[in-house]
Amino acid sequence: MAKRETGDGIINKSNFRYYINKILSVPIYIKITGILLLIVVALEFATIFSLYIFYYRQEHARLKKSGSAAGRIIAYRIEDYMEENNIPKLKEMIKFDVANSSIVQYMVVKKEDGSVIAYAAKKGFRIEQGKYIKRHGNAIVYGVRVISPYPKYEMVDLKSPVVNDDTSGRYGRVGAEIGTLRIGLFSDSFHHFLDMTLIFIIFVLFPLIISTIIFFRWISISVLKPLSDLSDAAESAKKGNYNIVVSTPKFADEKLAGLINGFNDMLSAFSKTEYKWENKDLRRKEFIKEVIGAQEFERKKLSRELHDEMEQFLVYISMKFKILGKIYNIERGNEHIDEMMSYIAKEFDNIKNITKELRPGVLYELGLYKALMQYAEEIKFNHNIKVEIFTAGMQEFKSDEYTEINIYRIFQEAFSNIIRHSNADAVKITINFENCIFHAVIEDNGKGFKMVKADKSKGENFGIIGMKERAEILGGTINIKTKPGSGTTIVLNIPIDKAIDKDDEEAVKT
Ligand SMILES: Nc1ncnc2c1ncn2[C@@H]1O[C@H](COP(=O)(O)OP(=O)(O)OP(=O)(O)O)[C@@H](O)[C@H]1O
Ligand SMILES: [Mg+2]
Repeated sequence: MAKRETGDGIINKSNFRYYINKILSVPIYIKITGILLLIVVALEFATIFSLYIFYYRQEHARLKKSGSAAGRIIAYRIEDYMEENNIPKLKEMIKFDVANSSIVQYMVVKKEDGSVIAYAAKKGFRIEQGKYIKRHGNAIVYGVRVISPYPKYEMVDLKSPVVNDDTSGRYGRVGAEIGTLRIGLFSDSFHHFLDMTLIFIIFVLFPLIISTIIFFRWISISVLKPLSDLSDAAESAKKGNYNIVVSTPKFADEKLAGLINGFNDMLSAFSKTEYKWENKDLRRKEFIKEVIGAQEFERKKLSRELHDEMEQFLVYISMKFKILGKIYNIERGNEHIDEMMSYIAKEFDNIKNITKELRPGVLYELGLYKALMQYAEEIKFNHNIKVEIFTAGMQEFKSDEYTEINIYRIFQEAFSNIIRHSNADAVKITINFENCIFHAVIEDNGKGFKMVKADKSKGENFGIIGMKERAEILGGTINIKTKPGSGTTIVLNIPIDKAIDKDDEEAVKT
């Protein structure tokens, strides 16, 4: 079966780089603590090592010095036994010496030809004899091997000649060499030293390392915390939250404190500016609301005045003309009176239409849906435009007078623009009410226009701007999609407050 090379589990070059990057991307305080810790541990081990070397040398020199002095004395005593050939006594003596000395670990006495005649060793030592062939002059002799339980470098192995001389004084004598004394020396101090080092590591170095970690962690946190606070604050300011104050640490560096204060000042300035903007926007909306409210009020008033004054006045005049005609029984010039009467009737209709535009009574009487339907029918009838209407969910629609008049006005403006500017011969209207959203699309197949044209800049054309403002004060949106030659589509979305109960509204109105 062919082996699939997926690379899983294999640390290739990019994997390796990934792990290196991961290690390098640990937080900075961990990096600092790690580096400092390494330095501390290295320094501490270097100190222990140099102490050990120093102690080792001292100890070796001491052992060598006292070992060679002892060797010379013992060799002198050995010489007597060798001359007497009293080997048992010799053995007994070195056994006693080894047992009673704290630093002598073993002793081996050899004859001049290299053969071992006596040896003694402390527990743990092994002396193997005869296996190791050594050349001694022309003769081949068996040697000895001392197997020590201690590391070789910690032992001091000294040789002292056993010299046959009875003539001179005890020390510094000359004569024939009749044998060799080999002494193995070892001081427990080394091991004491190692034990002490271990104790030092466990009870001093280890707690020292732990406290070093804690100390550096604290240092790095106290040094870096203001910076990480600053970074957190910047992150949250990026999301638009300026109401944060980064606290200055007690013992902060002057420059760091300056940085934190500057940052706090900057955030507070931002927050003030934002408040101003929020306020400005709020004030603008309130202002538009008031203007639109005042406009509606004036329209209502005007419509009432037109109805009460002008319409009544025209009725009155037409009545007077009729009376005049009857009183004077005017035959000639009757056609003038009829002409006047038809002018008055036409003007009466005009004023009625204006009154309706100013205050769409049907809206107040039958509600938004019926008012819109009626309006669409009138357009169809009066302007010879094909109007298609699709509606859904409108039987559920309930809203307040304020919302309804504003939606109605938006439709009014859209229809007015279609009639005045679009040259369209077909309009499609879609209205639906779903999930508390009044959604409408008004689509004409007219000439369309460039949106830039409908700008406030010229101080004219307030229709589209008015539509947008009305949608905005209702908390909704309006989108106009158009370009020259491809019709105009207006998409309106208005949220409708659920809490409003149409029946309650009407009860308040009556
Ligand atoms: N449905 C449309 N089809 C073609 N052009 C349109 C349509 N609606 C608007 N426009 C163009 O956009 C311009 C701006 O329309 P807007 O309603 O803002 O102003 P207006 O109708 O010219 O004046 P006002 O509404 O203030 O009486 C219009 O002058 C017209 O050129
Ligand atoms: Mg307009």
